[in-house]
Parts: sequence; C-alpha cells; structure tokens
Amino acid sequence: MAHRDCTAFLQWALPQLGLRWAGYRKVQGLVCKRLAHRLRELGLADLAQYRVRVAGDALERERLAALCRIPISRFYRDRGVFDALRDAVLPALAARAAGRGERTLRAWSAGCASGEEPYSLAIAWRLAVAPRFPGTALAVLATDAEPELLARAERGCYRSSSLKDLPGEWLPLAFERAGELWCVRGGLRRGVGFARQDIRAEMPAGPFDLVLCRNLAFTYFDAPGQEETAARLAARLAPGGFLVLGCHEKLPAAIAGRFAPGPHECIHASA
Ligand SMILES: C[S@@+](CC[C@H](N)C(=O)[O-])C[C@H]1O[C@@H](n2cnc3c(N)ncnc32)[C@H](O)[C@@H]1O
Repeated sequence: MAHRDCTAFLQWALPQLGLRWAGYRKVQGLVCKRLAHRLRELGLADLAQYRVRVAGDALERERLAALCRIPISRFYRDRGVFDALRDAVLPALAARAAGRGERTLRAWSAGCASGEEPYSLAIAWRLAVAPRFPGTALAVLATDAEPELLARAERGCYRSSSLKDLPGEWLPLAFERAGELWCVRGGLRRGVGFARQDIRAEMPAGPFDLVLCRNLAFTYFDAPGQEETAARLAARLAPGGFLVLGCHEKLPAAIAGRFAPGPHECIHASA
C-alpha cells in the first residue's frame, strides 16, 4: 500500500470517526499496516474499494475505529510524571484522605492499554508511598476499549522492553520472572481492576482523586471530542483531585480554567 494512498485514506476517514489526522502522523505506519491486513482479510484490491465498503457499512466503520486505536505504552512512561505522582501527588492525596478519616484513594486510568500505566501507579504507591500511610489503600480502576489489551493486562506479564523506564530497584520487588517475561507480583495486582469501556460512550461514575487520561483523547480525538471528554473527565474528579495528561497534550481552552498547575507540567490540579 503506497504511503500517499494511506495518508489520503486516513485524511478522509479519521474525521468521520471523530479523530484528527494530526494525532496520527507519528503512528501512521502502524495503522497503514493494519489497513493492509484488513484489505487482505476482505479480499479488496485497494483503499478505494475499502472506502466504498466503509461508507456503506456501519460495522466496518467500527472495525476501522478499532484499527485506529494505538496500543503503545510502557511502565513508568514519562518518568518525571510518575516521580511527581510518587513524591507529591499520592502523598498529598493520602495525607488529605487520612485527615478526613477516609481509607481509600480512588484512581482511574482511562485508556490503560495492556496495564502498564495502572500497574505503574499501583507499584509506586505500594513501594514508595503506602508504607507512610498504613491505614490508606489505593484502588485503581483501569479501562480500555480493546478486549485483547485488557486480557493482556489481566495476565500482567511483559517483555523487558516495557520495563526499561521503571526504577531499577523496583524490578525484583514488583515482578517475577516467567521465562522471557516479567509478571507483576500477585500482591501488587490487588487493588487494580480492569473494565472494558469506550470512553466516548461511557465513563465510570467516580468521583476519583486521580484520573490519568494520557495519549488518548487529547492526541487522537478531534476538537469537539477533546472538549467533551475533558468536561466529562473534570466532572468525575473529586474537589482537589488531579488530572494527568500525556506530555505532548494540552487541555482544551474551554476546560483549562477549571484547573491549576500541578507539581509537573502534565499534571493538572482540579479547583
Ligand atoms: C497510546 S495508548 C496509551 C496508553 C497509556 N495511557 C499510556 O499513556 O501509556 C491509547 C490507549 O487508549 C485506548 N483507546 C483508544 N480509543 C479509546 C476509546 N474510545 N475508549 C477507551 N479506550 C480507548 C487504546 O486501545 C489504547 O490502549
């Protein structure tokens, strides 16, 4: 499939799915590979034929939307963000909860891929923060639209390439070796739950003390989708809670005023 043809197809298709081309420039290769595979499955000669199919078939449009979901993640992605969560956000939330006599902090990882993000949070909490707050627990809900990714998340086993950003001393504490893979230790999985949800259609009720929505809505969704998602995320944050975005992402202007700067430029404090 020619690069030029794939670009033209994506520039036609993405807006119809509420997605924006600009978010896909860097990951176009992955989507084009998936498209070529889909064409072979359908026995279609080229993207012109696939266009006709997508235009007339709602189920194929859903299939295409799934092909456009990018699964890339890794543990402790954007180290500075996780350092700030570990050193500032989680201790502040835990101290506030303890002061109020609350026993559970609630976090939501929206678009959790294969579990790298919610497990990173649970590991940082358990190894670095929880010992100072023995009466407090962290409950992490992790959601994604892709069942295959969620199944991998439930298995909790990863190649070492997913773990290269994790603080080295945590590796043996948080993982056990299973052949080529590293599996999250059982005790660290407790408190992390997974659910299938399309963030456009539904969100957990909340309220949450901490919401991570990174490298999803604010990279790939079009402007109205970003605004709508941001407003719905903000509505699920407890007062004084924190919203974490990907480090190349910005809150839509209409919502940004509801947040103050957090302890890292990618972390926003709800008013
Ligand atoms: C690029 S990954 C980001 C993973 C993780 N948040 C991170 O930053 O490393 C984006 C994830 O969002 C999921 N996703 C995409 N569209 C979604 C939607 N509409 N609802 C829920 N999850 C979605 C994808 O399946 C994928 O797992």
